[in-house]
Amino acid sequence: MRTPTIETERLILRPLTVDDAQNAFERWTTDPEVAKYMMYTAHKSIDETIGWMSTIDIDSDTAYDFAICAKDEDNYLFGSCGVYYCEDDQVFEVGYNLARDHWRKGYGTEVMQALVDFTVKQLHQTAIRGRYDIHNEVSGHVMKKCGFEYIGEGKGFKYDGVTPHDYYLLRYNVKGEKTDLKLYNGLSVAPIGFGTYKAEEGSVSKAIENGYRYFDTASFYMNEEMVGKEIKESGIPREEVFLASKIWPTEFGYKETYEAFERSVSKLGTDYLDLYLIHWPKLTKKDDQWKRKLSDTWKAMEELYKAGKIKAIGVSNFLPHHLRVLMDNFETKPMVNQLELHIGYMQQYTVDFCKANNIHVQAWSPMGRGRLNEDEFINSIARKYLVTPQKLMLRFLNQNGISVIPKTNDPVKMSQNLDIFGFTICDEDMSLLMALPQTGFSGEFADSVEFEGRM
Ligand SMILES: NC(=O)c1ccc[n+]([C@@H]2O[C@H](COP(=O)([O-])OP(=O)(O)OC[C@H]3O[C@@H](n4cnc5c(N)ncnc54)[C@H](OP(=O)(O)O)[C@@H]3O)[C@@H](O)[C@H]2O)c1
Repeated sequence: MRTPTIETERLILRPLTVDDAQNAFERWTTDPEVAKYMMYTAHKSIDETIGWMSTIDIDSDTAYDFAICAKDEDNYLFGSCGVYYCEDDQVFEVGYNLARDHWRKGYGTEVMQALVDFTVKQLHQTAIRGRYDIHNEVSGHVMKKCGFEYIGEGKGFKYDGVTPHDYYLLRYNVKGEKTDLKLYNGLSVAPIGFGTYKAEEGSVSKAIENGYRYFDTASFYMNEEMVGKEIKESGIPREEVFLASKIWPTEFGYKETYEAFERSVSKLGTDYLDLYLIHWPKLTKKDDQWKRKLSDTWKAMEELYKAGKIKAIGVSNFLPHHLRVLMDNFETKPMVNQLELHIGYMQQYTVDFCKANNIHVQAWSPMGRGRLNEDEFINSIARKYLVTPQKLMLRFLNQNGISVIPKTNDPVKMSQNLDIFGFTICDEDMSLLMALPQTGFSGEFADSVEFEGRM
């Protein structure tokens, strides 16, 4: 993209050209007080300034160099700034320098804010790197004022390759919003819940302490009593907790569904569920009665929903042809479909079908149950945003409007998994992550998985 001209309240930032060399040389590139904070060393001759400016390419897609001009001084040139792509970290870095006679007038903040806006809005970046000399407190203050956060220190050399340069590194991230997602019946669903499959005793208590209020369990997990007990012991009122459970295919049937529901609520120590899901559409691929069984089950679930015993009803692991059995024959269509979803296994056809039909999509194994931890590509994108691969995986789903229910027994990871709104994955990375070849799939496919003998 051609370097544009940007106007702020008091400034014009326009492309810097070699015609600016004389003014730059006279006003700041020769000043050791300016150079001591910058990557360059003070220029000794106009040729050095011309040499630097001759490298500027106004049509570059990876470097944008601007001249900083004061509007109320007849566009007086008093500094330069830029946005430069760093290949190693796959991130743009911003920087500026100002002639000394224009220090301490708030121009630094105005320039930096303009560079951030340009990088975010026009280059569509959601992460930006900044750095400043460790002695340059003013620049540090400016960057923090513009939303940059300290990430560490660095040591290196200036452009001359010999003068040491010690600096602080900072990062600006476009933050995300932690908004609850809504089901078509108006019920709010937290974007992050706590998965309890194989959760150890005490994990639910720790999750509550860490701020989780949504709990995903199932009769199949054989832990509803534990989940209910730990919620009760926390003293949090029932209405502040979102409880989701699931009916297993061996429990299918009209009367059987009422019984399964009663078993679940009684183990959980409650009299209603916030969400009740059909765990899988069928027990075995040999089952030629699965449509009838699903219909009998859904009939009871719909009645329980209408009676207020369940606030929302839905399914799990349903593909469009399973969903249709319920959608075509009942007044109440599923409100949620909980699917195995993570980078590398996005079931796009089913997700699109659900979205088109207003069925909220929720991800189980949102981090691929550890199978993706070492994935090189996921790790490289995570490094770009300075987050763990697990946070990247959760945020990726969340940015797709999908709620997640990560499971961990470790309180530190519990809190990390909740803290995913401090960064935003840019569109380009979202596309790349979406297009990743299949990886990390559990192998459990609704029409071929065999659960015979399990529960
Ligand atoms: N509807 C269904 O058919 C279905 C199927 C499977 C699961 N689920 C639900 O989905 C929930 C989550 O799925 P899942 O447990 O299979 O997979 P997951 O949440 O993707 O992964 C869980 C694994 O990741 C580890 N982990 C969690 N947070 C981490 C972090 N920040 N850094 C590093 N490792 C981390 C956990 O380790 P530690 O525990 O050792 O910390 C655990 O081994 C389940 O608990 C269950 O509620 C539903």
